[in-house]
Amino acid sequence: MNVLIYDSAEVIGQVVGKLFCDHVNNAPKACLGLATGVTPIPTYNYIAEEYAKGKVSFSNVTTFNLDEYCDLPREHRNSFYSFMMDNLFSKIDIKPENINFLDGNAADVEAESRRYAQKIEAAGGIDIQLLGIGRNGHIGFNEPSDKFTDEAFKVKLTDSTIEANSVFFDDIPMPHFAITMGIGSIMRAKKILLIATGESKAQAIKNTVEGEVTPQNPASILNQHPDVTIYLDRAAASLLK
Ligand code: F6R
Repeated sequence: MNVLIYDSAEVIGQVVGKLFCDHVNNAPKACLGLATGVTPIPTYNYIAEEYAKGKVSFSNVTTFNLDEYCDLPREHRNSFYSFMMDNLFSKIDIKPENINFLDGNAADVEAESRRYAQKIEAAGGIDIQLLGIGRNGHIGFNEPSDKFTDEAFKVKLTDSTIEANSVFFDDIPMPHFAITMGIGSIMRAKKILLIATGESKAQAIKNTVEGEVTPQNPASILNQHPDVTIYLDRAAASLLK
């Protein structure tokens, strides 16, 4: 895996955002895997700015988001669907029918998982998958576990994740379950870009880059993917040798 270190989250947003825009300009029917959270916001800002300048179009792009909370209406302002609408989709020309999310309220999670896998396959697979990383090493919502999971599944979020994300919930308690693409679905992306910024990610990054491959640190599996680049600010890189 390639590890690149930059001065700030903003610069990483420009570099990664440019990579996405260049890819879409070369392949207008691109299939992109997207993440939510604080980390990708500078990337999404850059992409929205480039779109506003007329430098890129997403009219033929298809997207698949990594995960969604369970037991939360899709339109709730803290759903990952709302996050993506607010931070990116409402600012670019992507077609609503090309935006894909796992349904956190699906009654039959296995059927929902199959539906998502088939849709990704029908779209030709994910060209570029964007990832953040949890303080505990999660990618998507694949929490530390005793095994790597293949396709999408329902997961009970760990205390660490609930603590990190509940700051965004001020009206209702944060859901404790989510549906997430599995490790297998993430690993099938042709190219993976992981961004980590801030000191709170430093230990997870050290474990990922220098530690062993183990489902106790889900991001460590990325060592087995042929095309992964990790973008770090100095704080997230601070524990690396
Ligand atoms: C979000 C996701 C998570 C986040 C991770 C980091 O779709 O899949 O893995 O990337 O929890 O979140 P932030 O960026 O808020 O620190």
